[in-house]
Amino acid sequence: MKEVLLQTIKAAGVLVKEGFYQDFEVSHKDGINNLVTTIDKASEELIVNTIKAHYPEHGFVGEEFGNENEDAAYKWIIDPIDGTVNFAHHVPLCCISIALTHKEEVIMGAVYNPMMDELFFAEKGKGASLNEKPIRVSTKSNIEQAFLVTGFPYHFPDTKIHPLEIFTKVVAKGLPVRRLGSAALDLCWVACGRFDAFWEYNLQAWDIAAGYLIVEEAGGRVSNFSNQPYTIWDKESLATNGIMHEATLDLLFS
Ligand code: IPD
Ligand code: CA
Ligand code: CA
Repeated sequence: MKEVLLQTIKAAGVLVKEGFYQDFEVSHKDGINNLVTTIDKASEELIVNTIKAHYPEHGFVGEEFGNENEDAAYKWIIDPIDGTVNFAHHVPLCCISIALTHKEEVIMGAVYNPMMDELFFAEKGKGASLNEKPIRVSTKSNIEQAFLVTGFPYHFPDTKIHPLEIFTKVVAKGLPVRRLGSAALDLCWVACGRFDAFWEYNLQAWDIAAGYLIVEEAGGRVSNFSNQPYTIWDKESLATNGIMHEATLDLLFS
């Protein structure tokens, strides 16, 4: 399954990279800024068809074409392009994210940015890698030296604390914080130590399933905003290098 996952994500990467330099159609999903392109759809089709040819009995949860064979023990959770708004504006910060679950547990995940040719991979209990080299989260412990990344949902939900309030708090403290536009890359960049922490409200399972395992296998920690154990169906996602998990919770939510 690892080989199928890696072959498939690389093939989708070729398609996405070729598409990036060509004309493609952009349309709107719900709301004005939730975009989808013809390349998102082609990428998901390629991924599902390739995996199905190997494992016809497996299930799929895909962003663009929905669920298939939902009761299967093995399910593939697919974001055919994470960072579609970047992609649609020819900003090369985007990736493909594919996770494999077995009985609802994420057992493998891959995230590939074909523009930077960076392939992140993790298998449960076996560590995480970037282009086949092992990766670890950062070892920083002082929150005042943290380099942070976040994202904003397409619709501002009715949250206890508004995402912009939290953002303002961090900026007011003078901490560097970025908003890249791809949650899967945000997580992988925490996993390889570029960032120390990431948070976002209202992500979907396909945004986060692969990146979540990659962070954990790189030695980091993922929880919800109340420091409770995390599942990929949670609406609150916080990922850190582990060492500054509590300090990040305090900074953002107290
Ligand atoms: C989006 C990206 C973005 C995040 C949004 C996601 P999409 O996914 O991950 O960084 O802020 O919440 O929906 O639409 O590009 O697949
Ligand atoms: Ca996404
Ligand atoms: Ca997407």
